[in-house]
Amino acid sequence: MVALLWILLVVLWGLAAILGFKLRGINRERKELEKQIEELEKQIEEGEKQLEEGEKQFEEIEKQREAIGGLRARRAVETLKEYHPPLGGREGLRLDFNENVDGCSPRVLELLRATTAETLNKYPEREPGELKVAAALGLEPAQVLLTNGVDEAIHLLAECYLEPGDETLVAVPTFSMYEIYALATGSAVRTVQANEALEFPYEAMLGAITPRTRMICIASPNNPTGAIATREQLLAIVQAAPQAAVLIDEAYIHFGGESLLDQIGVLDNLFICRTFSKAYGLAGFRLGALLGAAGQLHMVRRVASPYSVNGVVLTCLQAALDDQEYIAGYVEQVLEGRAKLEQFYRERRIPYWPSQANFVLAYFGDFRQALVAEMRRRGILVRDRNADPGCAGCVRITVGNRAQTERLLRELSEALAAIGFVVQQRAANFGALPLAAKETR
Ligand SMILES: Cc1ncc(COP(=O)(O)O)c(C=O)c1O
Repeated sequence: MVALLWILLVVLWGLAAILGFKLRGINRERKELEKQIEELEKQIEEGEKQLEEGEKQFEEIEKQREAIGGLRARRAVETLKEYHPPLGGREGLRLDFNENVDGCSPRVLELLRATTAETLNKYPEREPGELKVAAALGLEPAQVLLTNGVDEAIHLLAECYLEPGDETLVAVPTFSMYEIYALATGSAVRTVQANEALEFPYEAMLGAITPRTRMICIASPNNPTGAIATREQLLAIVQAAPQAAVLIDEAYIHFGGESLLDQIGVLDNLFICRTFSKAYGLAGFRLGALLGAAGQLHMVRRVASPYSVNGVVLTCLQAALDDQEYIAGYVEQVLEGRAKLEQFYRERRIPYWPSQANFVLAYFGDFRQALVAEMRRRGILVRDRNADPGCAGCVRITVGNRAQTERLLRELSEALAAIGFVVQQRAANFGALPLAAKETR
């Protein structure tokens, strides 16, 4: 009998221990959930503040408009959110705009020094430049339109193909100008949110295509995530929307990803844009190239200014294209530096997104603002990407040349210590984000 009681006691004790263990686990999960809820509430609060701010601005515009009573911008322009990249006060090591901070080909600088008055007083002729770029890329000249940076290429596509009632599809987070130029035409933008891993949302993008879709913009590698879409995914999207101008932005193609260049002229609705602002180190020169089927570009040329590409850059173009040795040397340093920066994050268990571009996005949570400020104090500019959809708490850092990466890693390590940084886990906050497509007008 006593033995039986003992056995019962031991069983009960065991059950109590298991229960206690389970309760502790539940408690831990509860705390984790509470933390996530807290983070979500913070984000909602921030969103509401931004909304309030936007409404105030809109009211202000309305008031001004009523007071003036005269000329009004188009409604699509009045309701457009303003985009002010933080261009002011950028002294120091500029690791905030994904520029090539190593410089540019010395051959370009040489030609620049020899600029004549004629280059400046003559209207620039773009066609010879298009011949050069076409030859370098293995395309027909009619398949190349040189533009005032990729920015102008996006603008021209929107001008050429979008009408009110049409829709542009973009996967966010991504480069802001797609949305801005599309909305400015008075048409709508449908955004598709990337998942928690900030991967290209292929299935959702495919599913969001409708007969109204007239433009699709995809950056691969993407900014600010560094993620790529595979060649198969991109081809499937181009083919699934023959009524839409599909722009594949290959601004960062030197650093990773698969180009669709061989499909130019094969797929009539495919456009690719390339820039001289990144690997070539010529962001101040403002040169981009829109590549597409000759018949489509013929239409795009109708809305393009004949002089938007300046004469100075056109005289330097061949030298820039020829000096592939410079590009290869710079790209090699970036890839090396990118691997080191990613390793830095791994070693400290700082969440980051593996990148195929010349920058890396990482999560610093509540320490984000302090880190950006501390880095600036140390003479290094890095970019706060907190406002990008799905990037709360994130900072993007451009990778420079070897010496710059060494300096970055040293200063980053010291800056983290100086602000008392402790790793935060990114809340699984995507339940609160519109995973399905969202329309903006
Ligand atoms: C994806 C992407 N496309 C285009 C650009 C701008 O290119 P450009 O300087 O030729 O206008 C940027 C600049 O950051 C970018 O990130």
